[in-house]
Amino acid sequence: MSRDWMLLAVCLLGFSGCHRAPEPEFTNSAELQALKPELQAPVLKALGEQCATPSHPKMLWRPAFDTAHLQRGLAVYRKRCVQCHGDSGDGNGPVAGSLYPRPRDYRKGIFKFASTPYGAKPLRTDLIRTVSRGISGTSMPAFHLLPNADIEAVVDYVLALTHRGELESQLVLEVGSADAYEEDVLTETIDTIKGRWEQAAQQVYYPLTIEPVFTAEHIIAGKAAFLSKGCAQCHGADGRGQTPENLKGDRKDAWGYSTRAADLTSGMLRGGGRPIDLYRRIYSGINGTPMPAFNNVLKDEPDTIWNLVAYVLHVSGRRRTGEILPTGDIAPYITGVVPAAK
Ligand code: HEC
Ligand code: HEC
Repeated sequence: MSRDWMLLAVCLLGFSGCHRAPEPEFTNSAELQALKPELQAPVLKALGEQCATPSHPKMLWRPAFDTAHLQRGLAVYRKRCVQCHGDSGDGNGPVAGSLYPRPRDYRKGIFKFASTPYGAKPLRTDLIRTVSRGISGTSMPAFHLLPNADIEAVVDYVLALTHRGELESQLVLEVGSADAYEEDVLTETIDTIKGRWEQAAQQVYYPLTIEPVFTAEHIIAGKAAFLSKGCAQCHGADGRGQTPENLKGDRKDAWGYSTRAADLTSGMLRGGGRPIDLYRRIYSGINGTPMPAFNNVLKDEPDTIWNLVAYVLHVSGRRRTGEILPTGDIAPYITGVVPAAK
Protein backbone atom coordinates (compact mmCIF):
# COMPACT_ATOMS: atom_id res chain seq x y z
CA MET A 1 0.00 0.00 0.00
CA SER A 2 1.40 3.40 -0.89
CA ARG A 3 2.10 5.95 1.81
CA ASP A 4 -0.80 8.14 0.63
CA TRP A 5 -3.26 5.31 0.97
CA MET A 6 -2.05 4.55 4.48
CA LEU A 7 -2.46 8.19 5.39
CA LEU A 8 -5.98 8.21 4.00
CA ALA A 9 -6.85 5.04 5.92
CA VAL A 10 -5.55 6.52 9.16
CA CYS A 11 -7.52 9.73 8.59
CA LEU A 12 -10.71 7.82 7.84
CA LEU A 13 -10.32 5.76 10.99
CA GLY A 14 -9.73 8.91 12.95
CA PHE A 15 -12.90 10.51 11.65
CA SER A 16 -15.24 7.51 11.83
CA GLY A 17 -14.53 4.75 14.30
CA CYS A 18 -12.60 6.49 17.01
CA HIS A 19 -14.61 9.61 17.78
CA ARG A 20 -16.16 9.89 21.23
CA ALA A 21 -19.88 9.29 21.61
CA PRO A 22 -21.69 12.53 22.52
CA GLU A 23 -22.29 13.01 26.24
CA PRO A 24 -25.82 11.85 27.02
CA GLU A 25 -28.19 14.45 28.36
CA PHE A 26 -31.37 14.12 30.37
CA THR A 27 -34.50 14.02 28.25
CA ASN A 28 -37.01 16.44 29.72
CA SER A 29 -40.43 14.99 30.49
CA ALA A 30 -43.35 15.89 28.25
CA GLU A 31 -44.92 17.71 31.23
CA LEU A 32 -41.82 19.88 31.64
CA GLN A 33 -41.74 20.64 27.94
CA ALA A 34 -45.36 21.73 28.13
CA LEU A 35 -44.63 24.42 30.77
CA LYS A 36 -44.38 28.04 29.68
CA PRO A 37 -40.79 28.91 28.73
CA GLU A 38 -40.45 31.39 31.63
CA LEU A 39 -41.40 28.62 34.09
CA GLN A 40 -39.33 25.95 32.34
CA ALA A 41 -36.12 27.93 32.73
CA PRO A 42 -35.98 28.00 36.57
CA VAL A 43 -37.04 24.33 36.78
CA LEU A 44 -34.23 23.33 34.41
CA LYS A 45 -31.79 25.46 36.37
CA ALA A 46 -32.83 23.80 39.65
CA LEU A 47 -32.56 20.32 38.10
CA GLY A 48 -29.10 21.10 36.76
CA GLU A 49 -27.90 22.40 40.13
CA GLN A 50 -29.41 19.61 42.21
CA CYS A 51 -28.94 16.57 39.98
CA ALA A 52 -26.36 17.62 37.37
CA THR A 53 -25.95 15.37 34.29
CA PRO A 54 -26.25 11.63 33.51
CA SER A 55 -22.44 11.30 33.36
CA HIS A 56 -21.76 13.26 36.56
CA PRO A 57 -24.94 12.89 38.58
CA LYS A 58 -25.53 14.27 42.05
CA MET A 59 -27.68 12.54 44.63
CA LEU A 60 -30.63 14.72 45.55
CA TRP A 61 -30.50 16.11 49.15
CA ARG A 62 -27.07 14.44 49.67
CA PRO A 63 -24.60 16.65 47.77
CA ALA A 64 -21.68 14.95 49.55
CA PHE A 65 -22.70 11.50 48.27
CA ASP A 66 -19.68 9.43 47.19
CA THR A 67 -18.98 10.43 43.56
CA ALA A 68 -16.59 7.53 42.88
CA HIS A 69 -19.33 5.12 43.93
CA LEU A 70 -21.85 6.82 41.63
CA GLN A 71 -19.31 6.70 38.79
CA ARG A 72 -18.96 2.97 39.34
CA GLY A 73 -22.76 2.71 39.23
CA LEU A 74 -22.79 4.73 36.03
CA ALA A 75 -20.26 2.38 34.40
CA VAL A 76 -22.39 -0.67 35.26
CA TYR A 77 -25.55 1.13 34.14
CA ARG A 78 -24.07 2.12 30.77
CA LYS A 79 -22.92 -1.41 30.15
CA ARG A 80 -25.90 -3.39 31.40
CA CYS A 81 -29.03 -1.32 31.92
CA VAL A 82 -29.19 1.63 29.55
CA GLN A 83 -30.38 -0.40 26.54
CA CYS A 84 -33.67 -0.94 28.33
CA HIS A 85 -33.97 1.75 30.99
CA GLY A 86 -32.50 4.66 28.95
CA ASP A 87 -29.98 7.39 29.80
CA SER A 88 -32.57 9.34 31.80
CA GLY A 89 -34.02 6.26 33.51
CA ASP A 90 -37.27 6.90 31.67
CA GLY A 91 -37.59 3.26 30.58
CA ASN A 92 -37.09 4.37 27.01
CA GLY A 93 -33.85 2.72 26.03
CA PRO A 94 -33.30 1.72 22.38
CA VAL A 95 -34.84 -1.75 22.80
CA ALA A 96 -37.69 -0.76 25.15
CA GLY A 97 -40.30 -0.43 22.41
CA SER A 98 -40.35 -4.14 21.72
CA LEU A 99 -40.62 -5.26 25.35
CA TYR A 100 -43.69 -6.18 27.39
CA PRO A 101 -43.86 -5.37 30.18
CA ARG A 102 -41.97 -2.18 29.49
CA PRO A 103 -38.71 -1.54 31.36
CA ARG A 104 -39.35 0.51 34.47
CA ASP A 105 -39.51 4.28 34.08
CA TYR A 106 -37.80 5.18 37.36
CA ARG A 107 -38.80 8.83 37.22
CA LYS A 108 -42.13 8.25 38.95
CA GLY A 109 -40.35 6.81 41.96
CA ILE A 110 -42.75 3.84 41.96
CA PHE A 111 -41.33 0.35 42.37
CA LYS A 112 -43.40 -2.82 42.32
CA PHE A 113 -41.56 -5.23 44.56
CA ALA A 114 -41.20 -3.77 48.01
CA SER A 115 -41.35 -4.84 51.64
CA THR A 116 -43.32 -1.69 52.49
CA PRO A 117 -47.08 -1.02 52.08
CA TYR A 118 -48.82 -0.16 48.82
CA GLY A 119 -47.97 3.41 47.87
CA ALA A 120 -44.83 3.59 50.03
CA LYS A 121 -41.26 3.81 48.76
CA PRO A 122 -39.23 0.60 48.57
CA LEU A 123 -36.14 0.01 50.66
CA ARG A 124 -32.76 0.20 48.95
CA THR A 125 -32.39 -3.49 49.83
CA ASP A 126 -35.63 -4.28 47.94
CA LEU A 127 -34.08 -2.81 44.79
CA ILE A 128 -30.82 -4.66 45.40
CA ARG A 129 -32.77 -7.91 45.73
CA THR A 130 -34.72 -7.26 42.51
CA VAL A 131 -31.61 -6.36 40.49
CA SER A 132 -29.79 -9.37 41.81
CA ARG A 133 -32.47 -11.95 41.13
CA GLY A 134 -34.13 -10.28 38.13
CA ILE A 135 -37.87 -10.31 37.41
CA SER A 136 -38.80 -13.72 36.13
CA GLY A 137 -41.23 -13.87 33.26
CA THR A 138 -40.03 -10.45 32.00
CA SER A 139 -36.95 -9.25 30.12
CA MET A 140 -35.37 -7.89 33.33
CA PRO A 141 -32.26 -10.06 33.74
CA ALA A 142 -30.80 -11.38 37.00
CA PHE A 143 -27.47 -9.78 37.88
CA HIS A 144 -26.44 -12.03 40.76
CA LEU A 145 -23.14 -12.83 39.00
CA LEU A 146 -21.98 -9.22 39.34
CA PRO A 147 -19.90 -8.33 42.41
CA ASN A 148 -22.08 -7.00 45.25
CA ALA A 149 -20.28 -3.67 45.07
CA ASP A 150 -21.39 -3.28 41.43
CA ILE A 151 -25.01 -4.08 42.29
CA GLU A 152 -25.02 -1.61 45.18
CA ALA A 153 -23.41 1.08 43.02
CA VAL A 154 -25.83 0.62 40.13
CA VAL A 155 -28.79 0.70 42.51
CA ASP A 156 -27.54 4.01 43.91
CA TYR A 157 -27.14 5.31 40.37
CA VAL A 158 -30.73 4.21 39.68
CA LEU A 159 -31.79 6.06 42.83
CA ALA A 160 -30.02 9.21 41.60
CA LEU A 161 -31.99 8.99 38.32
CA THR A 162 -35.18 8.25 40.26
CA HIS A 163 -34.83 11.28 42.54
CA ARG A 164 -34.10 13.54 39.58
CA GLY A 165 -37.29 12.27 37.93
CA GLU A 166 -39.28 12.82 41.10
CA LEU A 167 -37.91 16.35 41.50
CA GLU A 168 -38.72 17.12 37.88
CA SER A 169 -42.33 15.94 38.06
CA GLN A 170 -43.03 17.45 41.49
CA LEU A 171 -41.59 20.82 40.50
CA VAL A 172 -43.55 20.84 37.27
CA LEU A 173 -46.71 20.11 39.23
CA GLU A 174 -46.10 22.81 41.86
CA VAL A 175 -44.88 25.47 39.47
CA GLY A 176 -47.62 24.68 36.94
CA SER A 177 -50.44 24.92 39.48
CA ALA A 178 -49.10 28.14 41.07
CA ASP A 179 -48.32 29.50 37.59
CA ALA A 180 -45.14 30.91 39.12
CA TYR A 181 -41.77 29.72 40.38
CA GLU A 182 -42.04 30.66 44.03
CA GLU A 183 -39.06 31.12 46.26
CA ASP A 184 -39.54 28.17 48.62
CA VAL A 185 -40.78 25.67 46.09
CA LEU A 186 -37.43 23.95 45.59
CA THR A 187 -36.55 23.31 49.25
CA GLU A 188 -40.12 22.27 50.08
CA THR A 189 -40.25 19.82 47.17
CA ILE A 190 -36.87 18.30 48.04
CA ASP A 191 -37.99 17.92 51.69
CA THR A 192 -41.18 16.11 50.62
CA ILE A 193 -39.29 13.66 48.39
CA LYS A 194 -36.63 13.09 51.04
CA GLY A 195 -39.31 12.52 53.70
CA ARG A 196 -41.05 9.81 51.67
CA TRP A 197 -37.83 7.86 51.11
CA GLU A 198 -36.65 8.19 54.67
CA GLN A 199 -40.02 7.08 56.00
CA ALA A 200 -39.81 3.76 54.16
CA ALA A 201 -37.47 2.31 56.79
CA GLN A 202 -40.21 2.69 59.41
CA GLN A 203 -42.88 1.26 57.15
CA VAL A 204 -41.45 -2.23 56.60
CA TYR A 205 -43.93 -4.84 57.73
CA TYR A 206 -43.47 -8.41 58.78
CA PRO A 207 -46.04 -11.21 58.50
CA LEU A 208 -48.74 -11.07 61.16
CA THR A 209 -48.24 -14.75 62.00
CA ILE A 210 -45.42 -17.25 61.59
CA GLU A 211 -45.13 -19.06 58.26
CA PRO A 212 -46.70 -22.50 58.71
CA VAL A 213 -45.41 -25.74 57.19
CA PHE A 214 -47.78 -25.95 54.25
CA THR A 215 -50.05 -28.99 53.96
CA ALA A 216 -52.95 -29.96 51.74
CA GLU A 217 -55.30 -28.29 54.28
CA HIS A 218 -53.64 -24.93 53.69
CA ILE A 219 -54.05 -25.37 49.95
CA ILE A 220 -57.72 -26.31 50.25
CA ALA A 221 -58.43 -23.36 52.56
CA GLY A 222 -56.37 -21.12 50.25
CA LYS A 223 -58.38 -22.15 47.26
CA ALA A 224 -61.64 -21.37 49.07
CA ALA A 225 -60.27 -17.92 49.95
CA PHE A 226 -59.04 -17.41 46.39
CA LEU A 227 -62.59 -17.95 45.16
CA SER A 228 -64.36 -15.97 47.90
CA LYS A 229 -62.04 -12.96 48.49
CA GLY A 230 -62.11 -11.57 44.99
CA CYS A 231 -58.87 -13.01 43.61
CA ALA A 232 -60.74 -15.06 41.03
CA GLN A 233 -62.40 -11.94 39.66
CA CYS A 234 -59.10 -10.84 38.19
CA HIS A 235 -56.99 -13.99 38.10
CA GLY A 236 -59.85 -16.30 37.04
CA ALA A 237 -61.08 -19.24 39.06
CA ASP A 238 -58.17 -21.35 37.82
CA GLY A 239 -55.53 -18.67 38.47
CA ARG A 240 -54.62 -18.30 34.82
CA GLY A 241 -56.15 -14.89 34.31
CA GLN A 242 -58.19 -16.12 31.36
CA THR A 243 -61.32 -14.12 32.22
CA PRO A 244 -62.84 -12.11 29.34
CA GLU A 245 -62.36 -8.94 31.40
CA ASN A 246 -58.66 -9.62 32.00
CA LEU A 247 -58.00 -10.66 28.42
CA LYS A 248 -59.30 -7.32 27.19
CA GLY A 249 -56.15 -5.84 28.74
CA ASP A 250 -57.77 -2.46 29.28
CA ARG A 251 -56.47 -2.03 32.83
CA LYS A 252 -53.65 0.50 32.97
CA ASP A 253 -50.68 0.66 35.29
CA ALA A 254 -49.21 3.81 36.86
CA TRP A 255 -46.94 4.24 33.84
CA GLY A 256 -49.91 4.28 31.45
CA TYR A 257 -49.33 0.84 29.91
CA SER A 258 -51.93 -1.88 29.67
CA THR A 259 -51.56 -4.53 32.32
CA ARG A 260 -53.18 -7.84 33.12
CA ALA A 261 -53.69 -9.88 36.24
CA ALA A 262 -50.86 -12.38 36.34
CA ASP A 263 -51.18 -15.95 35.14
CA LEU A 264 -50.37 -17.49 38.49
CA THR A 265 -49.85 -20.95 36.97
CA SER A 266 -47.02 -19.88 34.65
CA GLY A 267 -44.33 -20.83 37.16
CA MET A 268 -42.79 -17.39 36.65
CA LEU A 269 -43.59 -15.26 39.66
CA ARG A 270 -42.22 -11.81 38.93
CA GLY A 271 -41.86 -10.77 42.52
CA GLY A 272 -40.12 -14.00 43.55
CA GLY A 273 -41.38 -17.43 44.54
CA ARG A 274 -40.49 -17.56 48.23
CA PRO A 275 -43.51 -17.73 50.55
CA ILE A 276 -42.53 -14.33 51.99
CA ASP A 277 -42.53 -12.78 48.50
CA LEU A 278 -46.07 -13.99 47.88
CA TYR A 279 -47.17 -12.93 51.35
CA ARG A 280 -45.96 -9.41 50.56
CA ARG A 281 -47.65 -9.30 47.14
CA ILE A 282 -50.97 -10.32 48.72
CA TYR A 283 -50.64 -8.31 51.94
CA SER A 284 -49.64 -5.03 50.35
CA GLY A 285 -50.51 -5.43 46.67
CA ILE A 286 -48.19 -4.42 43.84
CA ASN A 287 -47.33 -0.74 43.58
CA GLY A 288 -48.39 1.00 40.43
CA THR A 289 -50.60 -1.90 39.30
CA PRO A 290 -54.24 -2.91 39.87
CA MET A 291 -53.15 -5.74 42.22
CA PRO A 292 -54.76 -4.46 45.44
CA ALA A 293 -53.46 -4.74 49.02
CA PHE A 294 -55.44 -7.22 51.12
CA ASN A 295 -54.05 -6.08 54.48
CA ASN A 296 -57.34 -4.45 55.48
CA VAL A 297 -59.67 -7.10 54.08
CA LEU A 298 -57.73 -9.87 55.83
CA LYS A 299 -56.61 -8.09 58.99
CA ASP A 300 -58.79 -10.27 61.22
CA GLU A 301 -57.83 -13.51 59.50
CA PRO A 302 -54.05 -13.52 59.17
CA ASP A 303 -53.96 -17.29 58.54
CA THR A 304 -55.90 -16.75 55.33
CA ILE A 305 -52.91 -14.88 53.88
CA TRP A 306 -50.65 -17.91 54.39
CA ASN A 307 -53.39 -20.17 52.98
CA LEU A 308 -53.49 -18.01 49.86
CA VAL A 309 -49.70 -18.22 49.65
CA ALA A 310 -49.93 -22.01 49.85
CA TYR A 311 -52.53 -22.04 47.11
CA VAL A 312 -50.59 -19.71 44.80
CA LEU A 313 -47.43 -21.79 45.27
CA HIS A 314 -49.45 -24.87 44.55
CA VAL A 315 -50.90 -23.60 41.27
CA SER A 316 -47.66 -21.90 40.23
CA GLY A 317 -45.84 -25.23 40.25
CA ARG A 318 -48.45 -26.83 38.04
CA ARG A 319 -47.17 -25.91 34.61
CA ARG A 320 -43.60 -26.67 35.54
CA THR A 321 -44.58 -30.25 36.23
CA GLY A 322 -45.64 -30.43 32.58
CA GLU A 323 -49.25 -30.98 33.50
CA ILE A 324 -51.82 -29.77 30.95
CA LEU A 325 -54.47 -28.00 32.91
CA PRO A 326 -58.12 -28.53 32.16
CA THR A 327 -60.06 -25.27 32.19
CA GLY A 328 -62.09 -24.47 35.28
CA ASP A 329 -61.01 -24.57 38.91
CA ILE A 330 -57.76 -26.23 39.78
CA ALA A 331 -58.41 -29.15 42.11
CA PRO A 332 -55.85 -29.16 44.91
CA TYR A 333 -53.58 -32.14 45.26
CA ILE A 334 -55.30 -34.50 47.65
CA THR A 335 -52.34 -35.48 49.77
CA GLY A 336 -48.84 -34.09 48.98
CA VAL A 337 -47.37 -30.85 50.16
CA VAL A 338 -46.72 -27.76 48.13
CA PRO A 339 -43.96 -28.12 45.53
CA ALA A 340 -40.75 -26.46 46.72
CA ALA A 341 -40.50 -22.74 45.97
CA LYS A 342 -37.87 -21.51 43.51
C1 HEC B 1 -33.48 -6.37 28.61
C2 HEC B 1 -34.08 -5.25 29.30
C3 HEC B 1 -33.60 -4.88 30.69
C4 HEC B 1 -32.31 -4.69 31.14
C5 HEC B 1 -31.02 -4.88 30.36
C6 HEC B 1 -32.43 -4.25 32.51
N1 HEC B 1 -33.75 -4.17 32.88
FE1 HEC B 1 -34.45 -3.55 34.67
N2 HEC B 1 -36.36 -3.91 34.06
C7 HEC B 1 -36.70 -4.39 32.82
C8 HEC B 1 -38.14 -4.58 32.77
C9 HEC B 1 -38.94 -5.06 31.59
C10 HEC B 1 -38.64 -4.20 34.04
C11 HEC B 1 -40.10 -4.17 34.48
C12 HEC B 1 -40.65 -5.52 34.89
C13 HEC B 1 -42.04 -5.41 35.49
O1 HEC B 1 -42.68 -4.39 35.37
O2 HEC B 1 -42.48 -6.39 36.11
C14 HEC B 1 -37.50 -3.77 34.82
C15 HEC B 1 -37.57 -3.30 36.11
C16 HEC B 1 -36.50 -2.85 36.85
C17 HEC B 1 -36.58 -2.28 38.17
C18 HEC B 1 -37.86 -2.06 38.95
C19 HEC B 1 -38.16 -3.09 40.02
C20 HEC B 1 -39.45 -2.79 40.75
O3 HEC B 1 -39.57 -3.20 41.92
O4 HEC B 1 -40.35 -2.14 40.21
C21 HEC B 1 -35.31 -1.94 38.55
C22 HEC B 1 -34.89 -1.27 39.85
C23 HEC B 1 -34.44 -2.31 37.47
N3 HEC B 1 -35.18 -2.88 36.44
C24 HEC B 1 -33.07 -2.11 37.47
C25 HEC B 1 -32.22 -2.54 36.45
C26 HEC B 1 -30.78 -2.40 36.51
C27 HEC B 1 -30.01 -1.75 37.65
C28 HEC B 1 -30.29 -2.92 35.35
C29 HEC B 1 -28.84 -3.08 34.93
C30 HEC B 1 -27.92 -3.62 35.92
C31 HEC B 1 -31.44 -3.38 34.56
N4 HEC B 1 -32.58 -3.13 35.27
C32 HEC B 1 -31.34 -3.93 33.30
C33 HEC B 1 -35.87 -4.64 31.76
C34 HEC B 1 -34.49 -4.57 31.80
C1 HEC C 1 -58.26 -5.94 40.61
C2 HEC C 1 -57.60 -7.11 40.07
C3 HEC C 1 -56.87 -8.04 41.00
C4 HEC C 1 -57.34 -8.67 42.13
C5 HEC C 1 -58.69 -8.55 42.80
C6 HEC C 1 -56.27 -9.55 42.58
N1 HEC C 1 -55.19 -9.41 41.76
FE1 HEC C 1 -53.41 -10.37 41.97
N2 HEC C 1 -52.65 -9.29 40.41
C7 HEC C 1 -53.34 -8.41 39.64
C8 HEC C 1 -52.45 -7.83 38.66
C9 HEC C 1 -52.82 -6.79 37.62
C10 HEC C 1 -51.18 -8.42 38.86
C11 HEC C 1 -49.91 -8.18 38.04
C12 HEC C 1 -49.14 -6.99 38.54
C13 HEC C 1 -47.89 -6.74 37.71
O1 HEC C 1 -46.83 -7.32 38.01
O2 HEC C 1 -47.98 -5.97 36.76
C14 HEC C 1 -51.35 -9.34 39.98
C15 HEC C 1 -50.32 -10.09 40.52
C16 HEC C 1 -50.47 -10.99 41.56
C17 HEC C 1 -49.40 -11.76 42.14
C18 HEC C 1 -47.93 -11.64 41.79
C19 HEC C 1 -47.51 -12.62 40.78
C20 HEC C 1 -46.06 -12.46 40.45
O3 HEC C 1 -45.78 -12.58 39.24
O4 HEC C 1 -45.22 -12.25 41.34
C21 HEC C 1 -49.95 -12.57 43.10
C22 HEC C 1 -49.23 -13.57 43.98
C23 HEC C 1 -51.37 -12.29 43.12
N3 HEC C 1 -51.65 -11.32 42.18
C24 HEC C 1 -52.25 -12.91 43.96
C25 HEC C 1 -53.54 -12.47 44.18
C26 HEC C 1 -54.41 -12.99 45.22
C27 HEC C 1 -54.07 -14.14 46.14
C28 HEC C 1 -55.54 -12.25 45.18
C29 HEC C 1 -56.73 -12.31 46.11
C30 HEC C 1 -56.44 -12.26 47.55
C31 HEC C 1 -55.40 -11.28 44.07
N4 HEC C 1 -54.18 -11.47 43.49
C32 HEC C 1 -56.35 -10.37 43.69
C33 HEC C 1 -54.66 -8.07 39.78
C34 HEC C 1 -55.50 -8.51 40.79
